Amino acid sequence: MEKILIAYFSASGVTEKVAKQIADVTGGTLYEIKPEVKYTAADLDWRDRNSRSTIEMRDKSSRPAIIKDLKDANSFDVIYIGFPVWWYTAPTIINTFIEAYSFEGKTVRFFATSGGSDVSGADKQFQAQYPAINWKPGKLLNGASKKDIEDFVV
Ligand SMILES: Cc1cc2nc3c(=O)[nH]c(=O)nc-3n(C[C@H](O)[C@H](O)[C@H](O)COP(=O)(O)O)c2cc1C
Repeated sequence: MEKILIAYFSASGVTEKVAKQIADVTGGTLYEIKPEVKYTAADLDWRDRNSRSTIEMRDKSSRPAIIKDLKDANSFDVIYIGFPVWWYTAPTIINTFIEAYSFEGKTVRFFATSGGSDVSGADKQFQAQYPAINWKPGKLLNGASKKDIEDFVV
């Protein structure tokens, strides 16, 4: 049987809720991507040009440090990666996570939540950045119902 991992980063709990739904439906292992330094409310203020999130997202090469405690990363066949949309794409901490564990040759699919923005550019971006991964089309799962989740994971 396929081993499924649901890894997510969630700054305020919205993506976490969707990640838990996916774990329930798939029976996969739920794993939180944890920043070494937690994001404070001030860090998350996108209106502030000098907030941590703004600075990180302005620099595509930023790689906010994570706590690297995912066990048996190589044992998973399918990896769902969840994140909140930041500045129309994935927070760069997602790059930190992918680069920490590589996932070469694995099937990886992202899901995201947002305040309304689409995230359709992320598929192309990930494909270009990590061509050794077998990317499946990602999806925005704002306010997803159980049926939405079931349709997504097939
Ligand atoms: C720094 C930052 C940037 C954001 N940028 C966007 C954006 O570009 N488009 C959008 O629709 N929502 C944006 N949002 C809103 C989040 O994507 C949304 O609230 C998300 O559901 C939060 O998920 P979380 O609780 O898992 O962190 C942004 C939020 C933050 C903190």
